[in-house]
Amino acid sequence: MSEPLLTCEQALAEACGRIGSESPRLDAELLLAEVTGWSRTRFRAFPETELTDKQLEHFRHLVARRSMGEPIAHILGHQDFWSLTLEVTSDTLIPRPDTECLVEAALELELPERARVIDLGTGTGAIALALLRERTGWQVLAADLVPAAVALARRNAERCGLPLTVIRSHWFDEVEPQQFDLVISNPPYIEEGDRHLSRGDVRHEPDSALVSGSDGLDAIRHLVTESQHWLTPGGWLVLEHGYNQGEAVRSLFRTAGYSGIETRRDYGDNDRLTLGRWH
Ligand SMILES: C[S@@+](CC[C@H](N)C(=O)[O-])C[C@H]1O[C@@H](n2cnc3c(N)ncnc32)[C@H](O)[C@@H]1O
Repeated sequence: MSEPLLTCEQALAEACGRIGSESPRLDAELLLAEVTGWSRTRFRAFPETELTDKQLEHFRHLVARRSMGEPIAHILGHQDFWSLTLEVTSDTLIPRPDTECLVEAALELELPERARVIDLGTGTGAIALALLRERTGWQVLAADLVPAAVALARRNAERCGLPLTVIRSHWFDEVEPQQFDLVISNPPYIEEGDRHLSRGDVRHEPDSALVSGSDGLDAIRHLVTESQHWLTPGGWLVLEHGYNQGEAVRSLFRTAGYSGIETRRDYGDNDRLTLGRWH
């Protein structure tokens, strides 16, 4: 005997009981939207709509993956960032909403109409593509060490129809000699062995995107020092960092000789980025 059909609301209620995340209802709605191709508004407007056997089977399979802790973005294969929908894979970080604060900070700077910009450790290409979406005159270069991330950022540039050049490089090592008005990066900044590495989505993301030495600051130290050789006079360095690293990062900027140094907070009111200007 075949199982009775479930309505959207019944399927969502069943899923909420299985998904052990912090946002079971949202997760379940996103998965059901993926399976049915319907918007989340439609489930709310027509909760009694019945799912087909095939839809229910597919939905339960995705719910099982989520209940094992797999990130929603990996299950869906995409993640929204800024006004873009980006492909994501397990080769790099899933773009986080707080990283949009870097994009906002960069857009507030007084930069030339045809500003030259580099996004180091671009991952999905999130920061670089959001900047290009807002400033069509900017010339944006992006780099990542991991070949699969380079390929991913190139696919995302194509998907968004934005003219981003992506190269494989250990920070500036493979970049042609030139000067930039803006160097921007969300580098790895978690301490080796940090307890956060064994929790939530982070367990499914590669160390290459997360970890940077015993105090988490190896990459940031390198970028603060190296960027001096690549910035135009008056050019800006904008770096994301951990909620507890603001003071240490400002001190690195000061020691290196940047001015206008400022740390800004994210949507959760935590220190999240520091910027400074090179003379
Ligand atoms: C925290 S993730 C940020 C990804 C993306 N920019 C974002 O904000 O979502 C850091 C990225 O830096 C890259 N990365 C790590 N070490 C690097 C290096 N030495 N040179 C260039 N990229 C590096 C990683 O592969 C990863 O994609």
